[in-house]
Amino acid sequence: MSEPLHILGAGSLGLLWAARCARAGIDCRLILRNPAALREWLDRDSVLLLERQETIESLPVTVELADSSNEPIRHLIIATKAWAVAGALESIASRLQADSQLVLLQNGLGSQQATSQRFPSQRVLYASTTDGAWKRAANHVVWAGIGQTLLGDPRQQPAPEWLALLSQAGIDWRWEQDILPVLWLKLAINCAINPITALHDCPNGEVPERAGPLFAPLLAELHTLLGSQGVQLSLTELTQRVHSVIQATAANSSSMRQDVHAGRRTEINFILGHACRTARLAGLATPVLDSLHQQLQDHLINLGLPPA
Ligand code: PAF
Repeated sequence: MSEPLHILGAGSLGLLWAARCARAGIDCRLILRNPAALREWLDRDSVLLLERQETIESLPVTVELADSSNEPIRHLIIATKAWAVAGALESIASRLQADSQLVLLQNGLGSQQATSQRFPSQRVLYASTTDGAWKRAANHVVWAGIGQTLLGDPRQQPAPEWLALLSQAGIDWRWEQDILPVLWLKLAINCAINPITALHDCPNGEVPERAGPLFAPLLAELHTLLGSQGVQLSLTELTQRVHSVIQATAANSSSMRQDVHAGRRTEINFILGHACRTARLAGLATPVLDSLHQQLQDHLINLGLPPA
């Protein structure tokens, strides 16, 4: 494969995927946001540290600034937070070609549709990943858990061949003919878990107990919302899915709780915000979801964080 793979976003997931490409010998370029970030990398000889269990691998990676090259970007993985997608993409927009293909790895919904609208001529693929990673330093990522990535084209076209690069990098991925229901189900699971963990500052395992009697009505509202979006599953199935994610990640901090701890902007607008807006547009009454959204916004404001 002669075209390099570009990764936009040097957060935990961007670093993890860059590291996995680097160790497989794939020509991968990590695009950094600003000169200070680039200096930090150059000071560390552009070596990315991949920590897994007790071992640390040193992997040389190619880093570049969005505007430091005019080289066309044909295959792009966007690994930023949902709220950063639009700005990050503008920084490389002039390097995209008519045949460029983009893969969006964000939580929630909203950034995907906005990207498809902004880049109507390019192929924009949507993905949902359960790969677990966290960042110890700018160039140091801890690989916490091997997950699976579901990918698809909202226009329901077949998988492009270049995705074979992901398999070469050892990334476990599967093509979904209908990706939107997959993303909606993930969003519903995030709506049920993340806000509660952020409000109560608790690990995922404590969510049902902390949510108390509101948990069942919350799941019922999410189930109705999923139905309105064409996601076919029963309330019992949704409840089981949510509880199994809670059990499997019981000791973990949700991404939203991690954002709050780090004093970072959260993805509330792309998770609860998107759910509440869609419910309103569909004419659904979702009082529990709306009140959770309001409580979380108030909580974020009290912490000095953006409420959207
Ligand atoms: O956002 C997250 O943290 C994860 O998607 C989930 C499923 C809540 C597990 O921690």
